[in-house]
Amino acid sequence: MNVKETVGIKAASYVKDGMIVGLGTGSTAYYMIKEIGRKVKEEKLNVIGVPTSTTSKKQAEEIGVPIKSIDEVEKVDIIIDGADEISADYQGLKGGGAALLFEKIVATYTEQVIWIVDESKMVDKLGNFPLPVEVIPYGQQQLFHLFEKKGYEPSFRMDKDQLKVTDSGHSIIDLHLKKIDDPEKLAKELDKTVGVVEHGLFLNMVNTVIIGKEDGAKLIS
Ligand code: 5RP
Repeated sequence: MNVKETVGIKAASYVKDGMIVGLGTGSTAYYMIKEIGRKVKEEKLNVIGVPTSTTSKKQAEEIGVPIKSIDEVEKVDIIIDGADEISADYQGLKGGGAALLFEKIVATYTEQVIWIVDESKMVDKLGNFPLPVEVIPYGQQQLFHLFEKKGYEPSFRMDKDQLKVTDSGHSIIDLHLKKIDDPEKLAKELDKTVGVVEHGLFLNMVNTVIIGKEDGAKLIS
């Protein structure tokens, strides 16, 4: 069993009968959804999944996990999602899979947020992984130049030779910052930048981190 599978299965053990579960996106979340699907089928686990992307929705549908959208539920009990980086003070950088907008919306309305990662995602400070910024296509070149002028070393996320289009029809500009000394300050700045829909800084959001290692999983709550 690989490390992503270990943490995916471990995280699925937090899902109890009757829960509404946010289904994260990515290669680690894939194993969690797979395990929930197994439990639904083999153990008659009764849950409703709230997918955070078309990819997770498709996977859940294919394996028989009942799903609803975030607007069809009152609240979400638990969300299990991957992350691209987690800092020493448990702030997250997400969006490598371009699903940051729905991931952040679902996490915002969720009681318990769990991130599942392998050890390599645990860093001292965020920023070595490019920070995804989801933007409205109208004016995106202007925004790109603004980020360039600020020295953020932006690049448009590409999908083959086309601009990547997110599930909500936006583009992604990745900021190659190398190190983010003050994530709160940067988050506030991006929040008030016109044309920015959302960014991949997930601050003060997580309750539990499950870190996969070759010899098992470590839990931090
Ligand atoms: C998608 C995400 C993913 O959770 C993040 O990119 C981690 O993915 P993986 O588990 O494949 O490394 O934020 O938008």
